[in-house]
Amino acid sequence: MAETTLRVSKIKNGTVIDHITNGHALDVVKILGITGRTGGIVTVAMNVPSKRLEVKDIVKIEGRELNSKEVDKIALLAPHASINIIRDYVVVEKQVVKLPAVLKGIVKCANPACISNSEEPVQPTFYVERGEPLKVKCHYCGYIMEKQDVLKQF
Ligand code: CTP
Ligand code: ZN
Repeated sequence: MAETTLRVSKIKNGTVIDHITNGHALDVVKILGITGRTGGIVTVAMNVPSKRLEVKDIVKIEGRELNSKEVDKIALLAPHASINIIRDYVVVEKQVVKLPAVLKGIVKCANPACISNSEEPVQPTFYVERGEPLKVKCHYCGYIMEKQDVLKQF
């Protein structure tokens, strides 16, 4: 690598979310509730040249591993992302995120009249439609939410 290139450093322990659809790094940061006011080192890189995608975003979080709900939310915005668990500088696990076919309890229906918004304990459920950009359809009322509507809830 040429001396003129400054690379983002490797991390010791934590998670690297790589191959994030460009433009979505800050959404990933938000999903994970990272404010930068507590916790360890967080590195955000945007519009980095990539072999697989034209450009990509990367988020590196020291000292934290993600739960499955967080991974599902990331998949909605960055369906090509890979989650790398790092321990003692080594990638010990690489998980390719998968867009789930059904979302349960991840987003709420934007239709106020929907039964899933009533007092009853109905778990909001959506079907993920094929293709990009993201669209999800409510199991109860058929309302279709677009990527922006989903993003607003994160
Ligand atoms: N990484 C890191 N700190 C480490 C190890 C890896 O920040 N201690 C980062 C790398 O910079 C890379 C990602 O974690 O962005 C995945 O690492 P690795 O599997 O080594 O890279 P690739 O083989 O390029 O991954 P892929 O095949 O997923 O593109
Ligand atoms: Zn609904």
